[in-house]
Amino acid sequence: MQQVIVTAFGGVETLQVCSLKAAQPRPHEVVINLTSIGMNQADLMARKGEYRISSGEPPFTPGIEGGGVITAVGEAVSDRTVGQRVILSIQAPASIGAPEYKGTYRSQFVAPATETIPVPDGIDEALIGALWLPFLTAWGALVWQQNIQPGQIVMLPAASSSVAIAASQIVKQHGGITIGTTTSPTKVEALQRLNAAQYDHIVVTSNRSQPWWKTIRKIAKTQGQNNGIDIIFDPVAAGDFLHHEIRLLAQGGTLWVYGLLGSPGKVDVSPLIRKNATIRGWLLNHISGTSAEQEGYTHILENMAVGRYQMPIAAIFPLDQVQAAQTAMAQGKHIGKYILKP
Ligand SMILES: NC(=O)c1ccc[n+]([C@@H]2O[C@H](COP(=O)([O-])OP(=O)(O)OC[C@H]3O[C@@H](n4cnc5c(N)ncnc54)[C@H](OP(=O)(O)O)[C@@H]3O)[C@@H](O)[C@H]2O)c1
Repeated sequence: MQQVIVTAFGGVETLQVCSLKAAQPRPHEVVINLTSIGMNQADLMARKGEYRISSGEPPFTPGIEGGGVITAVGEAVSDRTVGQRVILSIQAPASIGAPEYKGTYRSQFVAPATETIPVPDGIDEALIGALWLPFLTAWGALVWQQNIQPGQIVMLPAASSSVAIAASQIVKQHGGITIGTTTSPTKVEALQRLNAAQYDHIVVTSNRSQPWWKTIRKIAKTQGQNNGIDIIFDPVAAGDFLHHEIRLLAQGGTLWVYGLLGSPGKVDVSPLIRKNATIRGWLLNHISGTSAEQEGYTHILENMAVGRYQMPIAAIFPLDQVQAAQTAMAQGKHIGKYILKP
């Protein structure tokens, strides 16, 4: 089997592909030949040493998503079969103690059978390892925690990111109004054409001549919401951007922070007091082990299987071209998911 190892914190040159012996399952485990490995910003951060809480120290194998076909089952496993398509649960990439078994950038993965989810027919083979992070991140915050209501206005920064694209579909399915913001004027047309990107409005935030927050305030007014945006689901969450977001929040509005893409800077939070508004943090792992986790998987897979939820693939790279894949992803020109294929 092939496995990617980060040999030291640093650039893509620290990603090395090595060959290891084929894995054997213990009694409660299954062996999966991974056919799709979803790439995430967290993998790049881990390589650079910016996500040690998850990666630990090198050497380690990066990757938090994956799906494929079961090739062997342990003797105590009765509800999984060889040939079955499965996705790894959120916990699976970290569920086995030994470091050599963590991380999904590999051709074969050994997981407890209980940490695999069968995939229904109708879901694209290439995508089965690239669904959880975007859809469950959005569903967990906006549906499970926030209980989004029809008619609510939701602002989704980083509109071309996989999480925002997933969030746009979930919000529309729950009757909300979506405003995507993007730093990339060149992506607007493609986003407007894309079925998966369900934005009612797209606003470019890098246009100096037209302040984006004024445009969004106008949109909110045309939707009959004079007092602002009900929910902001934000991976930027810093400096000037956060400053203006706080001012856009409606009375009682909520700003969810789920990433830190922006540059730090001074922020005046005083409007939160007058608006009785909230800033909340969100990490996908908060859903792990709760009854909502299974509900989220079911909701996403059912909607995926009938084509109601979609995820654009930005590019598929062979696993042994992992350096080129992370280099391309770091450029930020993409829309949707980068996938590694062993
Ligand atoms: N909390 C959680 O549980 C959780 C789970 C998954 C992901 N995340 C976080 O969510 C974020 C997006 O992840 P992803 O995998 O969906 O990313 P992705 O698909 O690779 O999208 C990245 C996009 O973010 C935007 N962006 C990049 N740098 C930016 C900056 N400095 N300021 C504003 N926007 C910037 C760009 O979109 P535009 O060109 O459209 O502006 C870029 O294309 C990451 O920060 C990731 O760590 C958090």
